[in-house]
Amino acid sequence: MARILTGIQSSGKPHLGNLLGAVQPAIKMSLAQKEPAFFFIADLHSLTTVRDANLRKEYVRDVAAAWLACGLDPEKEIFYRQSRVPEVCELAWYLNCFAPFPMLSNAHSFKDKSENLSNVNAGLFTYPVLMAADILLYDAEKVPVGKDQKQHLEITRDIASAFNNLYPDTFVLPDVMIQESVMTVPGIDGRKMSKSYNNFINLFEDDKALRKRVMSILTDSTPMEEPKDPDTCNVVALFTLVATPEQTEALRQNYRNGNYGYGHAKQALFEVLVERFAEPRRLFQEYITDTESLEQVLRQGEDRAREVAQPVLNRVRKALGFR
Ligand code: ADP
Ligand code: TRP
Repeated sequence: MARILTGIQSSGKPHLGNLLGAVQPAIKMSLAQKEPAFFFIADLHSLTTVRDANLRKEYVRDVAAAWLACGLDPEKEIFYRQSRVPEVCELAWYLNCFAPFPMLSNAHSFKDKSENLSNVNAGLFTYPVLMAADILLYDAEKVPVGKDQKQHLEITRDIASAFNNLYPDTFVLPDVMIQESVMTVPGIDGRKMSKSYNNFINLFEDDKALRKRVMSILTDSTPMEEPKDPDTCNVVALFTLVATPEQTEALRQNYRNGNYGYGHAKQALFEVLVERFAEPRRLFQEYITDTESLEQVLRQGEDRAREVAQPVLNRVRKALGFR
């Protein structure tokens, strides 16, 4: 049994790639253990890129509703907004004073964004330190993340070790769990589905908008009558990720037989999406319209999170002589 913790950025609307690649696997992992997992919405991190207050609120609600709709149990897991546990900011300051400048300036995430330094804010630079505070504040032991976050976890461990060398036994050193096996979901243009490519499918739109999006998946111009190669088609790739093996095999056979157009395949994909995600889509609408309950669920998570955070922060304050 280990304490699992992971953060979810609220920098856009959750799409099919996020759901299949991150939300569902994390929820599955949490269901497999008795101890509560810590899942939080990294809204402070999103301030490095999202400046519009209303937009940020909207994204926070979208992300929260999506996780709950996909089966996160807020009675068991601790589900909260990062910003509502302000202890994290105090800890981030302490950790800043232990984070060597070259380590932060060499972080990929910073280097990638710092081509034009006049656009870079200090928040982007210290992003990994806030992330270290997110993790260390809760004595987290296992942190499931995508490959792109591996270096941030190394930074967390480096900062925690440096701190523990001076003040023994202050922090628990977390282990990263890289989710390599998780699939990469293609977008409607065949590249990796991502909000930055605007090629995503938002499952939580209404049927009409969802169908329109599915119908706009890029395909080649093979005429309807001719057989088609299922192995090179983006519709088949997406279909395979969400349908049963029997449904997929039937679709592949239709491709090989010919007299089956891309329009038919897209309609089949739309129907499978609507069927498979019927419950999450229904629940999402419930959560997103009942903002009062959503707020209550998050508040309850925030109370529980603070109860864990406060004694850890006190430990740090004491070690540093601030208490
Ligand atoms: P985006 O690329 O849309 O900005 P994020 O970087 O915010 O998405 O990703 C949030 C989580 O969703 C990460 O854990 C990431 O690994 C996962 N994810 C994003 N896009 C995909 C995808 N196309 N396939 C699988 N997982 C994805
Ligand atoms: N930086 C992570 C991402 O972009 C989100 C995140 C913030 C996080 N704090 C964290 C993930 C702490 C794990 C642990 O995906």
